[in-house]
Formats: sequence, C-alpha cells, structure tokens
Amino acid sequence: MSGTFYITTPIYYVNARPHLGHAYTTIVADVAARFHFMTGQETFLLTGTDEHGDKVVRAAKAENLSPRVYVDKISALFKALWPQLNIRYGAFIRTTDPAHILVVEQILKKIHAAGDIYFSEYEGLYCFGCERFYTERELVNGRCPDHETEPEVIRESNYFFKMSRYQDWLIDHITRNPDFIRPERYRNEVLSFLKEPLEDLCISRPKTRLEWGITLPFDPNYVTYVWFDALLNYVSALGYPDGDRYRKFWPKAQHIVAKDILKPHGIYWPIMLKAAGIPLYQHLNVHGYWNVDQSKMSKSLGNVVEPLELKNVYGLDAFRFFLMREMAFGLDAGFNEVSLINRINSDLANDLGNLFSRVLAMAHKYFDGVVPAMDPAVEKEFTLELEQDAAGTIAAYAGDMESFAFHKALATVWEFINRLNKYIDVTAPWELAKKKSSLKQLEAVIYNLLEGLRIISGLIYPIMPDTAETMHRHLGMEPDPDAFKLERLKKWKTIAAGQKLPKSVTLFPRIDPEKRQLAAQTDSDPAPIVVKPEISIEDFRKVDLRVATVIHAERLPRARKLLKIEIDLGEKRTIIAGIAESYAPEELAGKQIIIVANLKPAKIMGVLSNGMLIAASEKGKTAVATLDGKIAPGTPLN
Ligand code: MSP
Repeated sequence: MSGTFYITTPIYYVNARPHLGHAYTTIVADVAARFHFMTGQETFLLTGTDEHGDKVVRAAKAENLSPRVYVDKISALFKALWPQLNIRYGAFIRTTDPAHILVVEQILKKIHAAGDIYFSEYEGLYCFGCERFYTERELVNGRCPDHETEPEVIRESNYFFKMSRYQDWLIDHITRNPDFIRPERYRNEVLSFLKEPLEDLCISRPKTRLEWGITLPFDPNYVTYVWFDALLNYVSALGYPDGDRYRKFWPKAQHIVAKDILKPHGIYWPIMLKAAGIPLYQHLNVHGYWNVDQSKMSKSLGNVVEPLELKNVYGLDAFRFFLMREMAFGLDAGFNEVSLINRINSDLANDLGNLFSRVLAMAHKYFDGVVPAMDPAVEKEFTLELEQDAAGTIAAYAGDMESFAFHKALATVWEFINRLNKYIDVTAPWELAKKKSSLKQLEAVIYNLLEGLRIISGLIYPIMPDTAETMHRHLGMEPDPDAFKLERLKKWKTIAAGQKLPKSVTLFPRIDPEKRQLAAQTDSDPAPIVVKPEISIEDFRKVDLRVATVIHAERLPRARKLLKIEIDLGEKRTIIAGIAESYAPEELAGKQIIIVANLKPAKIMGVLSNGMLIAASEKGKTAVATLDGKIAPGTPLN
C-alpha cells in the first residue's frame, strides 16, 4: 500500500496534567501511525493543546497565574511527555499559535459571508459558576451539576451557527458511509441523536464574560466559542488552505477521540467542514473510558494514574502493550495494577519472553550463535505450515490494525507465538541434537524459529517499538525500521544464514504480584514545581504587600466558592476571595492577613474587588496566609 495517513488526537485541555487517559489516546495514535508506516504509507500524527475558554481561565486563576503563563506551563508538560512515551508526533499544535488563530478567523469569515452565522438574542438558563448556559436536561434537580446552584434565566445576544440546516445532509452522509464513525455503537449513537431536531450552535461569548479566546473577525465584542476554535486545529495544523501538508494529508484524515467528545466530533465538526467547503475526514475512531473502580479516570475524581510512573515502574513497552491489549477499542476498560502485572507475567515474560530466550539459547548451544542454513531437502517438511501460518497471521493482524481492533490484532500475534512454542515441543530440537544424522533437521527447526521471531518482532513494532528493535538486533539484523514494513516481513527466509547472533537478553523480567509499586491510585503525587521566570528585586517591590485586618466577611449569593470580605488596610476596602469552601465567614473576622494592595481592581460577580489576599490552594483546600503578631493595618511587608 502506498499513499498517506493522517491521524489526530484530541487537543487536550490545559486545565489538568496529562494522565493515563490522555496517554492512551495518544499511544493509540502512535500505534496506528507506526502500523501505517509499515504498510508503506507516509504518515503524520497531530496532537496538541486546547488553550482557550473559561475552563482554562478558571484553572489559571486557581494557580494565581495569568492565562498566558498558565497555558505555557501546562502545554509544555504535554509536549515533553509524548517523546518519553515513544510517541512520534509530526506537529504539536496549540490553539494560541498565531497561525491557528488566523485560520479560525478566516473560516469564521467564510461561513459568516456564506450566511450560515446569524446574530440573535437568546434566553436560557445560565450558571455563573460555570459561565455557561445549561439545557433543562443537563440540570440535576433543576440545579447545576457542578455548583449545585440554581441557574438563572438570562438573556444575551450571541452569534449562532446554522447547524440545523445541515441535519439531513449529515444523516445522509453517515448512513451512506457506514464506517465514517466507528465502532458501530458510536455511529448509532450519533444517528439516534440526530433523530431529534438539531439546535443551532452558539459560537460566541461576549467579552464582558470571557476575554480569553479568539476575537470574532466580524464583531470585536465577542470571542469564539472554544469548540469552534479547537476543532479547526485539525486543518490549521496542516497549513490550511494551501499548505503542502494540507494537500497531502487532509484527504486521508482520521481522528481518534473518547466517547466524551463524540458529539462535537461526530456532529459539529462535519457540519463545520461542510459549511466551510472543506472535504470531510475519513473516519472518526471512538474509544471508551479507562475506569478505576467503575468510575472514569479523571482529574476531578482524583483517581488518575501518572503515565511516567507506570513507565518507570514497569517499563514503557510493557505499559504500551497493556493499554493496547487490555482495552477492546470502543469499550470501557478497568485499570488496576494487578491486571497489569498479570499481563506482563503471562503474555510478555512467559509467552513472548520465554519463546525468545528458548530459541536464542538453542541457537547458541547448538550452533554457537551462528544462524544455520536450511537444507532444501528438509525445508518443505519443516517449514510449510509455519510459513503459511505466518502469512495468515500477518493478514489477519493487518486487517484488525487497520480497523483499530488492536486487542484482536495482538491476540492473533499471541496465537502465532503459541504456535511457535508448540512447534518447539513437537519438533523437540533437544532430541534432534542427540544424533548427528538429524543435524539438517535441527538446522531447519532453529532457522524457522528465528524466522518466526523475526515476524513477531515486526508485528509488535507499532506497540512495542523498543522491544521490536531489541529482538531484531538479537536475530542478527541491522537496525532498520524499513525491515518492519509488511512487504519485507512477509518474505520468509529473510535472515541471512551465517550471521553471528549477539548473546541473548531477558526481554521482560517476571514481576512479583505481591510487590505492587504504584502510589495509591489517587491524585496524591506532587506536581513538579515549575517556578515562574526570574524577576528582579525592583520587580518584586512593585507588588505592594500590606498587612490588613478582616473586619467582616460574608458569602456571595450564587457563588459557592466566593466570600466578600471587608478589610482594614489603614483604610476600609472590600475584596472578593475564592475561599468559601475552606473558611466560614465568621472564622475570618479579626484575622490579620496579607493583601496585594496595588492590584488593579476587578469586578467579580458584580462586586468590585479592591486587592487580593495571599493564600495557598491545594486540591480544593485553601489556607490564607496570616500573621501572628499584632501589626498595625496598612504596614508594608516589602
Ligand atoms: N479539549 C477538548 C478536545 C478538543 S479536540 C478538538 C477535550 N480535552 S480533554 O483534555 O478533556 O481530553 C479529552 C480526551 O482525553 C478524551 O476524548 C480521551 O481522548 C482522553 N481521555 C481523558 N480521560 C480519559 C479516560 N479516563 N479514558 C479514556 N480516555 C480519556 O475534551
């Protein structure tokens, strides 16, 4: 097969550090790209970060950073992680990249000019905590599921994208192209959603509510809704509309997402493409969730597993293999350390590892580590079925890899591994070695086993690239990724007789199941400290830190997290602080606290906050910095 292959991951929100869920999707993309490379295609993998919108603004606020500094910090964590997991991306896009912003503006203008965007007043249920509208269906007992507050009815003018106009067209497209969205359960889900009338999509946010976004090119008072901005990364990263990469790769685009973001990818995105006159992607590949104890692994539930910790404890290839083998693509899977250890011990150490060391040990013992030649006289008798089995394995594997059924592809490879283990038992090389007269047979058996291992090393390459290369080296082959291409793999009798094989190694050590090593699967690992860029003492002195005494504090209606605090700073002031979940208002009166006295005042929930108190937050708990001596209010600290 020749041609191109373009694969994308979702661009991840920078409101959380990368965890196993993100790693899974990105490893799937890498596995798919490596497999398509094996088929002879030119591949391109895109990943990146989604950096606009109020989720990100809130996360930045929680860390007391500006959105700009905050997005740089978290995006860098994602970018640095992927190479450590052996993921080779062609580009890493950020939605704050100027080139991306230009494309968003361009496409918005195009759709606006075509008449698919209109301005209208909207009345809806709005949660101020989330800064978004809710539909009745999304509420739990009439309340916001996050803030448990009753949303308010507000009227607001916004821009809307006429999605409804494309509903019938989309149904038709999905019906005619059965594998446009796959596996089938997700295609059915989208089709059943499309049975209800599709609402137009609100694609703007007034700047009075949210400034961190891409300004609408036709109205400076609004920013673009984060999904409309984010989805366009898939074309902007290729240099839409006339970049070489765009021309080369877009016609072969495939996306990978988990089911949480099926709707934007299965509905908004194809309609946006159609409205913008861009050809549609080929496939949307949708997977399920990694759960821990039946709940989705996520930052908010605090049950995340760190990919690097897994790599450090169990080895990268074992980790990649486990993810790909354990989850049936499309369905949910449970993560737990015991099943990881079991898989490593049975599939990797026992089946694959033993086969590899048995065969190499025999090659060293009987032939001094030199690849024996096969005598044509015995070749047929000792090879025929193996060669056919290998061809059958490669064909079944390729079909499953192509359609994202990775667990099946690996199961097929393991059948072949077992087949080779049985071949050893049946041919009993140790018996053949006893008699000089069976030397030719022994040579044929060992040669065939080495060839079988060569095929296995190629088939595991997309999932375990390092192990594949180690195996290859020990089979006396030159390091050459092209050797894993399917055309080359298929050719039986590729290993040259007479090659000297290096000493064998243990591919996967057995792990004692009693010795689980991962930290409890909670979010307890401290994040690495990323210190902000250095400043001078002069810079520091610009911050006017003062002692203040709390006079009175009260809750703000509609805001679960906020307190309105009257302080004495030598003069009376009001500040708003997000500490209501950690402090009762009564607790604060009389406390001496530290205030940034010269911070630009900001209106928060309609109240002017004039200064900011110093506090530390960790996992939703906040501690306010207080002074223990009686210092006159207004006294400077620096
Ligand atoms: N920013 C949007 C995507 C925009 S794409 C144009 C977003 N970001 S996210 O950070 O929330 O990432 C969601 C994706 O992360 C999921 O679709 C999936 O790929 C991955 N996963 C996050 N948690 C996961 C699990 N627990 N299990 C499996 N995948 C998970 O949505």
